[in-house]
Amino acid sequence: MSVTAGAVAAPAGPTGLHTPASTDAANTPLRAAAVREQVWFDGELVEAGAPRADLTTHAMHYGSGVFEGIRAYATVDGGAAVFRLPEHLERMRRGAELLGMSFDVRQATAAVLATLRANGHRDAYIRPLAWFGAGGFGLDVEGHAQHLMVSTTATRVHLNGQRARIGISPWRRNPADALPPLKLCGGYVNSILAKREAKARGFEEALFVDHDGFVVECTGANVFVVRDGTVTAVEHRDALPGITRDTLIRLSGANSRAVHIDELQDADEVFACGTAAEVAPVAQIESRTYGDNPVTRALAEAYAGIIRGESADHVHWLTRV
Ligand SMILES: Cc1ncc(COP(=O)(O)O)c(C=O)c1O
Repeated sequence: MSVTAGAVAAPAGPTGLHTPASTDAANTPLRAAAVREQVWFDGELVEAGAPRADLTTHAMHYGSGVFEGIRAYATVDGGAAVFRLPEHLERMRRGAELLGMSFDVRQATAAVLATLRANGHRDAYIRPLAWFGAGGFGLDVEGHAQHLMVSTTATRVHLNGQRARIGISPWRRNPADALPPLKLCGGYVNSILAKREAKARGFEEALFVDHDGFVVECTGANVFVVRDGTVTAVEHRDALPGITRDTLIRLSGANSRAVHIDELQDADEVFACGTAAEVAPVAQIESRTYGDNPVTRALAEAYAGIIRGESADHVHWLTRV
């Protein structure tokens, strides 16, 4: 068995509520679409299936890698742009630093843009991954080979998409003082366990709650609550400080504070958000169902305009492809 970089990269959006579906129709290429998908791997663009990783790859055994989930969107001016690329790569840099891995934000920026251009992608999910490769089975990562790849996958936008049905997880989120809320590969085993349990009970997504009943986040998305027109962003030290969450706080003026699970029971609307999920209304948490979600819809529409470059006040969040 061999492991290819392509296999590591696909499918897109594994941490979101919705997996962005691959679609050629929704993706008008900036230039003629590449005949074969390209990935950026250790400094050059190569055919997606070409790179092979050693079976002793440290990250495969121990999760010693860091990744990002980023989106590019076709913009109203006919071009394309990556949404909040510097913020994503800065978060990735922090994860890499923690692992003792060198990470050059400028190189990663260039790699993201080069991959999008090579693949002719405008609406795309972007997956950069930095990881430790061959070098032995010890836990000391010093001296291990380091790798960086970027893959891009054409996507369809899911704004105002399905309304998620969520189960409360019996699993606890990785506590921040054991595993910091960054996008470290190994940390996502926690999300996989929660997702599996929720799906086994017929839900699409899991909600993490701490030992005291405070809401943490979903497996790959942050949570907001709306009550009497007031929007509140769930704050928890164990939750990933999401870039979409930050965007929506700035747009809505939402306050950010700890939220107990009982508050979700009494809420008018609940929604989840993340780069892959975008703004995802919640239809149900366990047996509690939610009705119409006008505030969520309004925020989703505002977000949709911003990512597509319709708002002059927010174009600084876009990196042109
Ligand atoms: C665990 C977790 N929480 C929240 C989010 C949302 O973060 P962002 O909005 O930066 O994509 C993600 C997605 O990356 C995630 O993996």
